[in-house]
Amino acid sequence: MVLVQLVYVSRPSRPLVSSDLMAILGTARERNANDGVTGMLCYSGDFFLQILEGERARVCATFQRISRDERHRDVYLLCYLYPERRLFSEWGMGYVGLGDIPRELVLRHSEDGAMRPILTDPHIAMAFLADIANHVSETQTALL
Ligand SMILES: Cc1cc2nc3c(=O)[nH]c(=O)nc-3n(C[C@H](O)[C@H](O)[C@H](O)COP(=O)(O)O)c2cc1C
Repeated sequence: MVLVQLVYVSRPSRPLVSSDLMAILGTARERNANDGVTGMLCYSGDFFLQILEGERARVCATFQRISRDERHRDVYLLCYLYPERRLFSEWGMGYVGLGDIPRELVLRHSEDGAMRPILTDPHIAMAFLADIANHVSETQTALL
């Protein structure tokens, strides 16, 4: 199997309420479990940052479906990598609200604590996601 990691950002088409997020995560978790796709969805209110990892064809098919979804727009591919192992092997699709992440973790990747640099620099996005993975597994932060 050829393992890939894909990271994109997007903007919600309209403000989302928690039932919208639950619906997205419900579908994502069901489909991803069948496809062997794992990852994490981060949501800030203004944007989504998502990492998908798994077998190349499955990840690409998942990303194609996600790109067509009208619940978000301005879908920009940030990274497409061939890693040695998964970062989020424990999650069919983890969820983290960016407001729940400790500020010191955000400040490691952004001088002013704003998330914009994450949207523009793919290396920062990957480092940020790796930190989130560590944080979640260390603290067992409950994900939605
Ligand atoms: C921000 C966001 C993240 C999503 N993440 C996933 C995902 O990880 N896996 C997935 O199968 N669908 C995900 N979806 C849902 C897909 O866009 C799509 O609705 C779903 O895969 C069903 O596709 P279908 O109606 O073409 O069968 C996501 C949607 C949004 C808006």
